[in-house]
Amino acid sequence: MAHALSSSRPEAVVERIDGRAMARALSTETAARVEALCARTGHCPALAVILVGDDPASQVYVGRKVAECRKAGIRSVEHRLPADTGQDVLLDLIDRLNLDGAVDGILIQLPLPPQIDAGLVLDRIDPTKDVDGFHPVNVGRLSTGTGGLVPCTPLGVMKLLDSVVADYRGLDVVVIGKSNIVGKPVAMLLLEREATVTVTHIETRGLSDIARKADIIVAAAGVPHLVRGYWVKPGAIVVDVGITRVAEPDGSTRLVGDCATEELGHAGAVTPVPGGVGPMTIACLLSNTVTAAERARHE
Ligand code: GUN
Repeated sequence: MAHALSSSRPEAVVERIDGRAMARALSTETAARVEALCARTGHCPALAVILVGDDPASQVYVGRKVAECRKAGIRSVEHRLPADTGQDVLLDLIDRLNLDGAVDGILIQLPLPPQIDAGLVLDRIDPTKDVDGFHPVNVGRLSTGTGGLVPCTPLGVMKLLDSVVADYRGLDVVVIGKSNIVGKPVAMLLLEREATVTVTHIETRGLSDIARKADIIVAAAGVPHLVRGYWVKPGAIVVDVGITRVAEPDGSTRLVGDCATEELGHAGAVTPVPGGVGPMTIACLLSNTVTAAERARHE
């Protein structure tokens, strides 16, 4: 174990894992890879970002992704389509992007409008350009530990954990949430590191008792303040993936995670919301885009 679970740490001092700082460091590394690839091959990485409709949260996320790409030297090509876009139009666009040698990564912002079958659309992306890691080929590669592109949020969670955990072998990890985007893939990555992983969800009986046995909790249920102080054993590491906008009595809003962070003074380390997993997700998207570009050139 690295320091977060070591007995020499004063119990009362909880370490806040700084996702913003780690994301900056990763993006600096990615920018250096971009520069090196451009110099070696004359090809500079490009990410196609597709947004269908005008969901305000998706617009904010896409805006952030595009801005971060620019900072790292990755060219982003935005495709903003109206909310009533037909499935065939979207599939045609994906087919074109799959064939476009200048495009290394394709990201389709979710959720998609109801007339579009998200599964069908995600399956259409060339797995080598699937920087979200959602294509069944990449899901299969992750579950068999055979490479592929790894979904950005789980990859970010692992990088945050790696900053405080040196060796996962035999550690008890409880994942709360079973989504395809976070819960299931993060469980696969932790199994690969030989942790003992329990995947739970909002219907799990005795969830707080199960969580309390964990050395590491990954909370990804999307339920604000689900994980209370008594769910967490002293010294445990808590990664808070949840991010929900809640209304305050004065009419303002704020972002809250799945954990009641103010009750976690006895934890070994926690990730804040905001400023924890969120920035790492975007930094991992950039990193995946450059990985796809490097692999396409057999680097
Ligand atoms: N919507 C919410 N999370 C994600 C994500 O990780 N990728 C994409 N493409 N859309 C999302």
